[in-house]
Formats: sequence, C-alpha cells, structure tokens
Amino acid sequence: MSVSGKKILIAVSGGIAAYKIHFLIRDFVKNGAEVQVIMTPDAEHFVTKLSISTLSRKPVYSDFYGDNGTWNSHVEMALWADVMLIAPCTANTLSKMVHGMCDNLVIATYMSAKCPVFIAPAMDLDMYAHPSTKKNLERAESFGHTVIPAESGELASGLIGQGRMAEPGTVFEVINNYFEGEGIPKSLEGKTVLITAGPTYEAIDPVRFIGNHSSGKMGFSLAEEASKRGAKVILISGPSSQTIHDKNVELHKVTSAREMLAKVFEFYEKIDIGIASAAVADYAPKEVAAEKIKKNDENLTIELVKNPDILKTMGEKKTHQFLVGFALETQNEEENAKGKLEKKNLDMIVLNSLRDEGAGFKNDTNKIKIFTKTEKKEFDLKSKDEVAVDILNFVESQLLK
Ligand code: C5P
Repeated sequence: MSVSGKKILIAVSGGIAAYKIHFLIRDFVKNGAEVQVIMTPDAEHFVTKLSISTLSRKPVYSDFYGDNGTWNSHVEMALWADVMLIAPCTANTLSKMVHGMCDNLVIATYMSAKCPVFIAPAMDLDMYAHPSTKKNLERAESFGHTVIPAESGELASGLIGQGRMAEPGTVFEVINNYFEGEGIPKSLEGKTVLITAGPTYEAIDPVRFIGNHSSGKMGFSLAEEASKRGAKVILISGPSSQTIHDKNVELHKVTSAREMLAKVFEFYEKIDIGIASAAVADYAPKEVAAEKIKKNDENLTIELVKNPDILKTMGEKKTHQFLVGFALETQNEEENAKGKLEKKNLDMIVLNSLRDEGAGFKNDTNKIKIFTKTEKKEFDLKSKDEVAVDILNFVESQLLK
C-alpha cells in the first residue's frame, strides 16, 4: 500500500461523523502508516482520546498545553506530517481554516502545515448547501487543498441529503491514491485529456432502455492514471457504478449517446488527447414512449435508428487532438481495428478481442493490442489499471514523435 511508512496527521473536529475516524485510523495503521491525531475541544464530546490513541498508538492532543507544564508543539506536528487530513471537518472548523481564525490547536497546526491538506466535510444538509459553506469549500480548494465531498444519505438529524462525511474507505482511497501518484513523473502536466467511459442507455419508455454490459472500469482506470501523470481529465461516463475521487478529474455523468456527444463537444476544442473507451449503443429507439408500454400484444416491434458515432464525429472535426479509439472484436480483429483507425481518422486504436479470455467489457483484466497507422504492439493479460499505464505510455511515446 502506498500509505505504508507515511506520516498522516488527522485533525478531528466536533461532529457526529467523528466516530468514523476510528475505522480510518485502523486502516491507515494496518497498512503501515504512522498516524498522529489532534482534536478540537468540541470533538471530545463525540469521541474519546483513549479510543483514538489506542488505535493510533500515539497520544492525542487537543490543547496547546500538556498536564505537566509541557507544550504540544503545533509547528513540530505540522512539519512532521506528509499529509494533513481534517475529518470530519465541521462548518465552524472549515470557516476558521479559510479565514485564518487561529483559536485552537487544530487551526494553529493547519496554518503551520506545508504538506498537502485533505478535507472531509460533514454537516447537516442545509449547512452543507449554505452559500457560506460552498464559498468556504471553494476557498479551501483555491488554497490547493483537496475536498473529499460529503455523501448523500440519512443524516444524524433524520433529514436525508448531502452532508454525511465520506466513508472511511473513500477517504483512505483518496489519500492512498495521492501517495501512489507522488512518485509518478508528471508527464502529462498541462495537457487536457477527455475520456468517454461506460455504456449508454437508450430509453424505450420511462422505465426501460437498451444498454449493454460495459462496466466503465477501463475508462475510469485511464482517468485515474492520466490524473496521476498531472493531466486535467474530463471523464464523460454513461451509467456505471464506478466512482472516482480525484481533484484533477471532472466527472460528467450522461445517459444516452446523444447526451454523450453533446457533452464531448462542450470541451472538444480545448482538449489535447481524446480517448473513447465508452461502449456506446449503436442504435436507439426512434420514439421514446411517454408512458410505460403495456404488455398487451404477443409481439412488440420497436423501431431503432442509428446513434451518432461520437468518435467518428471527433475524428471529422479533429484539428490538433490526438485521438484514441477502442475496438472490441470477435472476428477479423486486426483488420477491423485498422479499418476503424482509418474510417474514424484516429491516431491510435486499442484492440481487445472477445476471443481472449479475461479481455473485454466486464472483466477486471484486459488483453490488448495497439495499432497506429505504422505500428503494432501486443501486450499480456493485465489488470485494467496496468493496461491504462500501457495505453498512456504508448500515447506519450506517440506525442514525442
Ligand atoms: O465502430 P465501433 O463501435 O466498433 O467503434 C468503437 C470505438 O468507437 C470506441 O472507441 C467507441 O468508444 C467509439 N464509438 C463512439 N460512438 C459510437 C460508437 C462507437 O464514440 N456511436
């Protein structure tokens, strides 16, 4: 794990979500990180120093002064840390952070920290939606901090909405990803990469659709890898259960092929690299029934019309963009892939054959071949994360030519 050997400073502020911090500390420590916890005075109403220090294996501080005339040095702790995480971050602590209201140990430590700062806000839904909170979160981001957005669900007040602190697993992933990306050269710094991912759903009526089994994994792995290399990533995904928590990745969710096309062309002129990994439905119902279609007749005929080919349209409008397509084939694989490279005016195409076990759509693995107009490279069966590395290495090698 990338958190292994890292020094993580966690500041807990006073919200009910503070209970979640136990699970997070346990995960960090279990994976070899060193964890130092500090708290605001209010946090002590929600969790005890004893439970936290037992898990973190270090004393927990909430005051500048120890019992025996000792001094809990905020500067020392701040400079010790590889990252600082404020979780849960209440509206009050957030406001103090972004306005420099330095009236407790947490804020003094935060203001002394030179390391990257991560913020996991937690508050009731109206507080989270308040313009003041929004502005404060924007301000924190403008300082270069990473905000791990609150999730939606039931809140301690009984209200339902956005405000729950991100789950410990999500916070862990964000910080682990940060350390993972740390050693990677920022070879795509200054570049904007647009990626399409997932399936598209084409509505038949208000409850039914035509879709496919694409999981979206390949596109999300590519987005994560491009971001680690310093790119700004625009990820346009059809319906998929994949999630991504990365401040360099702007996720746009769409449903149909037409929506995906429209979203792509909101950004197309500004991108440097376009990678189309979406499994776009080739056809859509000509008409979408306004009401749920009843099952009265023995047979039902739905007239389908061809969807726009998003990648082909990108190819037609190409000015400076480097375009990468995917081909999922079952026969005449290489010939078909090369045909698409030409027809869609691409710079590179990634072929996966459904004849290869472990390749394609739903798997966590993929086995690919890459073609340009003049080159061919074959790769072994790998995880989709590793395949993303191979694809972007190849893209970069082409950009250098
Ligand atoms: O023609 P075919 O569907 O096999 O081409 C696959 C490639 O084209 C993939 O990169 C896919 O994302 C893209 N595509 C698209 N819009 C479509 C169909 C495919 O962008 N309507």
